[in-house]
Amino acid sequence: MRSPYITVYLSDSDMIAVAGTSGRRHRLSEAARQVLLAAGVPATPDKLAETGGTSLDVVLALIAAELLIDPDRLPDRSWWDPHELVIQRMRSAGRKRPTLQAEEMPSPRKPLRDEVVTLPQTALDTDPAFFADVLSHRRSCRRFADHPLDLATLGAFLRRSLSVQHSAESYDSGVNWRPTPSGGGRHPLEVYLWPVRVTDLAPAIYRYDPFESVLCRHSDVDEWFARMPEQLRQQSDLLEGDPAVVLLVTAVAGRTMWKYENNGLSIIYQDLGALYQTWYLVATALGLGGCVLNGGNEFVNARMLGLDPLIECHVGGFLLGTPRDDRYQDPLSELLTTRDQP
Ligand SMILES: Cc1cc2nc3c(=O)[nH]c(=O)nc-3n(C[C@H](O)[C@H](O)[C@H](O)COP(=O)(O)O)c2cc1C
Repeated sequence: MRSPYITVYLSDSDMIAVAGTSGRRHRLSEAARQVLLAAGVPATPDKLAETGGTSLDVVLALIAAELLIDPDRLPDRSWWDPHELVIQRMRSAGRKRPTLQAEEMPSPRKPLRDEVVTLPQTALDTDPAFFADVLSHRRSCRRFADHPLDLATLGAFLRRSLSVQHSAESYDSGVNWRPTPSGGGRHPLEVYLWPVRVTDLAPAIYRYDPFESVLCRHSDVDEWFARMPEQLRQQSDLLEGDPAVVLLVTAVAGRTMWKYENNGLSIIYQDLGALYQTWYLVATALGLGGCVLNGGNEFVNARMLGLDPLIECHVGGFLLGTPRDDRYQDPLSELLTTRDQP
């Protein structure tokens, strides 16, 4: 039958269909369009070809393109709006533009209007007790020391940033309260950890349970995970040394989409932003270094973690470790030094 996750748009005189399950785009012929229109209910490929008045090849091409889909492949209850699914699929395909034109760059600053108000300084601007110290030292650290992180420090990082503080589970609302805010208190994000170098923790993939504050062993470290530091270095020439832990963030989308229609995905991404900043601040407060890791292939990660990306999808990641030195605190001078090198 027709996939419930198709979006269609026009490009010049072509009609383009995006398959939400794969994120791929396909140009629709008139025959393909007729088959899709006729495929609102389950039918055999032969029957669809007959109803659409076309050949079996067209139907088979639509199946290969995941525009026609076996209903058994679909979750019992899907929360996704097709547009949200396209945005989620585009997330993994995102990349830096191959050429960046300096003259086209939007200015990082808007011009000042004539009338400005100067804000007076107060003791709160510099009082370390007012969190200011942590905030002013927050920086992305991509340069990691070789020594391992101890399990207690990792535990403190996870507890401080993720642990459930209050839960209304017994009221069947699913709402709980944590150090990070979450749209509707739904907390869709799950955190998986790959300890690259952590003392007293056997190599495996773990999931942090924020209710009990424990690590649940999720799966073995397979070849793909073992190659992750190497892949990270290929992605970023700024990375030096291995992080002690790679954290992968997924979203159980239905937790949020159960409550919010059409804007569930945007709420999930906003939750992720709140988590990222919390991680940066907790890492800084604990003397650790961290960096958001936006990339990673959604489908590869889902396969490695054994997840169905229609239920629980990969949305982000974070590298955590001990900073090799303090140079990352002054990114501009670091950038200029690198530029000066032959
Ligand atoms: C949404 C988001 C995605 C990011 N993705 C990456 C990434 O994939 N790799 C990386 O090295 N840094 C990544 N960063 C870190 C930014 O490059 C960093 O925040 C920026 O350069 C400013 O540096 P600062 O964090 O030290 O202020 C990301 C940050 C955010 C908020």
